[in-house]
Amino acid sequence: MDDLTIRTHDEIARDILRRNDRGGHTIPTSGLYPYQWNWDSVFVSLGLATFDRERAWRELDTLFEAQWPDGMIPHIIFRADDPSYFPGPSVWQANNGPLASSGITQPPVAASAILELAREEPERARPYVTKLDAWHNWFHEARDPDGLGVIAVTHPWESGRDNLPDWDAPGDSINVKDVGGYSRRDTDLVGAEMRPRKEDYDRYIALVRFGAERQWNQRRISAESPFFVADPGTTAILLRAERDLEALAQLLDEPSIGATKRIASLEAGFDRLWNPEAGNYCALDLRTGKHAEASTSAGFLALYAGITDRKPKLVEQLAAFDHAVGRLVPSYDPRSSLFDHRRYWRGPVWAHVNFMIARGLLDIGEESWANRLRGDTAALIRDAGFSEYFSPVTGEGCGGGTFSWTAAIWLAWGLGEVEVLD
Ligand code: GLC
Repeated sequence: MDDLTIRTHDEIARDILRRNDRGGHTIPTSGLYPYQWNWDSVFVSLGLATFDRERAWRELDTLFEAQWPDGMIPHIIFRADDPSYFPGPSVWQANNGPLASSGITQPPVAASAILELAREEPERARPYVTKLDAWHNWFHEARDPDGLGVIAVTHPWESGRDNLPDWDAPGDSINVKDVGGYSRRDTDLVGAEMRPRKEDYDRYIALVRFGAERQWNQRRISAESPFFVADPGTTAILLRAERDLEALAQLLDEPSIGATKRIASLEAGFDRLWNPEAGNYCALDLRTGKHAEASTSAGFLALYAGITDRKPKLVEQLAAFDHAVGRLVPSYDPRSSLFDHRRYWRGPVWAHVNFMIARGLLDIGEESWANRLRGDTAALIRDAGFSEYFSPVTGEGCGGGTFSWTAAIWLAWGLGEVEVLD
């Protein structure tokens, strides 16, 4: 009788999270991503919290177990070597922390999730205050050494938005001559037209080799790396996280942490990312001083960060994206010639990004746009399944399937309650 049972999307989402559970940490999807990824795990904790709060905290505990002595929390944690993924621990050679890991980080969404969980269980959150403080501080020291108030990424992977066109021009100065032979595993599992191109991958691997040669000494990397690009996504997420860390410290009556000063720095610096030609906040190559040329979904995260000076312009941009494709929010400006609706971060819609942008829209009172994003996300998942990401043009599901953060966002955002208009 089992196969005749009709399961709700909520049940399927919970099932995906259980199946991707590797015992205290959740992998993004089996095959393509067999380890623990930083911001994936944080979104997963929000999904888990809807049905198993202890397991949600455990997800965060296992992520923070990998924190480096300098405060960084790595972007991948390699608990066991899995030859199906490249580049694995032997390529990264990052032995600076308590667990084998990559040598870069990812957008710091953890403080915001922990604040949410702490509202019901404040004491469980207490040990996180100093750990978050150390991680956030690390961003300012290692990724904004000149105190510009904008946070750089030293690898496209550090932004979490791997192959965004914004990284193309800054990446031109990466030397790929000595990258040597390597064999990608991702294109064995997903169609090459949905993944980064070979020229992008050469750059990714060259940057991993660059960091490994410097034993992941972050001061040397930020001083010497050919790739050092201020990212509106990371900067906005950190600014929101700093505000949420401050709120958490207040909730717990913890003595002052460094967030207040860091918030002031980011608030003062954020406008450096404004690109008047694009009419949005754009990546800024700190080696050349040039902005990326077009709007991306990350620009809208300014609202999530509480940067509201240019809100009419941002809402206007969002309406233009909508007019061009009808499904929100494409990761790259659909009016650009570089827009590629199925290729990863060069066009597709990602559920977790929509979740954050919608929060920012709600914060500024744009309820109908926020509802629109929620409705679009629900419809995409309902029609195409729990895919890694979605085409904003056709609505098809792309990349990996049974994807943890898509399932987690479904649960955390209550998408099962969104009315279907057929
Ligand atoms: C890709 C995504 C990144 C994500 C990872 C695991 O690298 O670009 O954001 O964390 O996959 O899902």
